[in-house]
Amino acid sequence: MSLTVAVVGATGAVGQEMVKVLEQRSFPVGKLRLFASSRSKGKEVNFNGSKVVVEDLSEADLSGIQIALFSAGSKISKEYAPKFVEKGATVIDNSKAFRMYPDVPLVVPEVNPDDVKWHRGIIANPNCSTIQMVVALKPIYDKVGIKRVVVSTYQAVSGTGYKAIAELEEEVKAYVEGKEYTPSVYPYQIAFNALPHIGPFENNGYTEEEMKMLNETRKIFGDPKIMVSATTVRIPVFRSHSESVTIETIEKITAEEVKRLLREAKGVKVIDEPKENLYPLAIDAAYKDEVFVGRIREDLAFSKGISFWVVSDNLRKGAALNAVQIAELLI
Ligand code: A2P
Repeated sequence: MSLTVAVVGATGAVGQEMVKVLEQRSFPVGKLRLFASSRSKGKEVNFNGSKVVVEDLSEADLSGIQIALFSAGSKISKEYAPKFVEKGATVIDNSKAFRMYPDVPLVVPEVNPDDVKWHRGIIANPNCSTIQMVVALKPIYDKVGIKRVVVSTYQAVSGTGYKAIAELEEEVKAYVEGKEYTPSVYPYQIAFNALPHIGPFENNGYTEEEMKMLNETRKIFGDPKIMVSATTVRIPVFRSHSESVTIETIEKITAEEVKRLLREAKGVKVIDEPKENLYPLAIDAAYKDEVFVGRIREDLAFSKGISFWVVSDNLRKGAALNAVQIAELLI
């Protein structure tokens, strides 16, 4: 098999990772088409030993594409994904544009792979902070059921895109040199800070990112009753999101049993030797594929509760890798 595959937003933080993951996983790409804005037209990207020229999306001929991976923001997805589908492509969209549409599957291959079967041209890739959490929750959910989840996130700036990576670098440099720096991507300085604000605030006091963690978890598990209360925080880390997760289960489960389940789970790696100071770290998870879980313990606040710490590379499992895994399910 040899497919014509497109990456839309190919020059972005996630798009570049998509190209790398396609190559690393030997996805059967016959022809790769790369799209970005007119600013990037003519740029060259290495793929499988040759150079692919970036095309301006607005003037491209979209015929002949079989699979298109989108990561250029929801405005571009809304405008262009239907055009790709009309020309015969299946779109795997990393933006928020279609995630909650009832006729669009929202898929994490370790959790709900069968949902790809009912797609009608578009499959949505969930939000990065949701993906790593549900991968860790899935084995526990299947074994004892989950009633509620309380989660706080510690999210890397790469989730906001290239401009945010540059802003953190420049702020750190300015700080060291004793210079003033006015942030433009985030509302406040991100260097040496923690911003409890990801996405716009909604009327209930939660942010959009926090509501995504509730709504997307329900859709992925097909369980409208599961409760998720999230506090999402941006921290000055370049890659990998960390999350502190506490769950209340329906049946009692011990920490030892959770460790055993997670050690056997696909896509998960347990790092949990607290006496040897071993637990998942953002810098260790960067550029890796797994969802790393540690600090697994019975929770003191719930009689049927478990707490843990989960870390994963937001650009890989949180975005590009999950999208390519969905494409693998399709073929
Ligand atoms: P470009 O580099 O030409 O601006 P990030 O999430 O890292 O900010 O990246 C966003 C991606 O979306 C980039 O590849 C960017 O391309 C692309 N993009 C932004 N605006 C458009 C547009 N109008 N048409 C096509 N691609 C776009």
